[in-house]
Amino acid sequence: MFLTCYNAERATGKLEVTASQADRDYIAAVDWKAAEKAIAEGKGDMLGGVKVLDPKKVPGIIYLMPCGKSPHGVDVSPDGKYIIGSGKLQGVTTAFNFEKVQTAIRNKDFTGDEDGIPVLKYESIKDAEVPVGLGPLHTQFGPDNWAYTSLFVDSAVAKWKLGTWEVVDKAPMSYSIGHLSAAEGDTVSPDGKYLVGLNKLSHGRHLNVGPSQPESSQLVDISEEKMKLLYDAFTEPEPHYAVMVKADKLKPIEVYPKEENKHPLAIWDVKDAGVTRNGNKVLVKMVLVRSTLTPTDFEVNQGDTVKVAMTNIEQTTDELHGWGLLDYNINIVVDPGETKVVTFKADKPGVFAYYCTNFCSALHQEMQGYLIVKPKADGLGRRGGSAGASPRARSRPCPPGFVGPGPGPPGHRLDLWKSHRLSQPSASRQGSSSSRRRSACSERSSSLSGT
Ligand code: CUA
Repeated sequence: MFLTCYNAERATGKLEVTASQADRDYIAAVDWKAAEKAIAEGKGDMLGGVKVLDPKKVPGIIYLMPCGKSPHGVDVSPDGKYIIGSGKLQGVTTAFNFEKVQTAIRNKDFTGDEDGIPVLKYESIKDAEVPVGLGPLHTQFGPDNWAYTSLFVDSAVAKWKLGTWEVVDKAPMSYSIGHLSAAEGDTVSPDGKYLVGLNKLSHGRHLNVGPSQPESSQLVDISEEKMKLLYDAFTEPEPHYAVMVKADKLKPIEVYPKEENKHPLAIWDVKDAGVTRNGNKVLVKMVLVRSTLTPTDFEVNQGDTVKVAMTNIEQTTDELHGWGLLDYNINIVVDPGETKVVTFKADKPGVFAYYCTNFCSALHQEMQGYLIVKPKADGLGRRGGSAGASPRARSRPCPPGFVGPGPGPPGHRLDLWKSHRLSQPSASRQGSSSSRRRSACSERSSSLSGT
């Protein structure tokens, strides 16, 4: 396994100067099988909860390969023979020979070490410096030993041959290219034919509508010796390590099968949806299916910890539902057959819409419900925002004119507020028999004041 590193100088300060002084930085070659063996033998120290192998104490797991000027990408050829390291501040990319690397390790052909990590001798492991052009970053591969290196500074792709190290063509890109993706170009059997150059910096290629310019990618025909630009399309900016795979190799699942959902809070019938309370913890089991979020409303007390477990019971392709909660900065998407849980503290009193945030049907916008957060009582036993509350509220918790929770949408759902009560598990009901004889109104108010 190979990783690049720069700032081998371990410089600080103005890094653009100080970290680029040395001619070479490193590619780290990790023998992950040796590392795996060391772990199996119980080696390693716990650091912050993670087992860490220190190369000083466990020799043989990692070696450094010097590589020119701040290496960026490192790529292994399809046959495993070559390791291509691209120093982004130079005009060549370096091809290392894996056999020579192994020989140098065996012969301890080192020039020194860094923190106990042996540094291999550059001349012993390098096969070629390929003059691809300025700012080489990443290399992808085609059939017949072809290699394609992206050139950030040149804004081009260089095509060259493994083994002969001959650069045969350069295709200009209309932007500063970063990653590139050749068809199955990261596999042991590259497909060739097509390559996409991914865009780091647009340079005004497109009509822009603000400071951040639109990004595009260019599709290049690589089936002939000369590369040919085929198409230019707007894309996400440079998705790193994007891969191009034949469509018939992709067999994704389309829904999460109901039988495989083992979530303890999953429910599959709206009859099982509902609200349970345990002290100040409220659990809502919710069903998401076109075009209702069940329950369509529920109420909690200000300060409650609310856990909403939602199951999207759809088994239909592409029927995702979302759950956004107004003013609580919550928005999740639940795939068909999936159960997801959100937990939040209901610290804001009022009526808050929750609603589907993933377009699901013609009734998507109707897929909505309301969370009612009953405000805490003030020192006089009055409810926050209840304009009609009077001192009498102390003895009569639900006086006429009581308007329920504070802020809410116009015409907010007093009907919901009155007609829905949290189901209280009997175990959590404490208090005297007289309190149990209280009306529904006062029972609700006792939960309002937090008892
Ligand atoms: Cu469910 Cu939109």
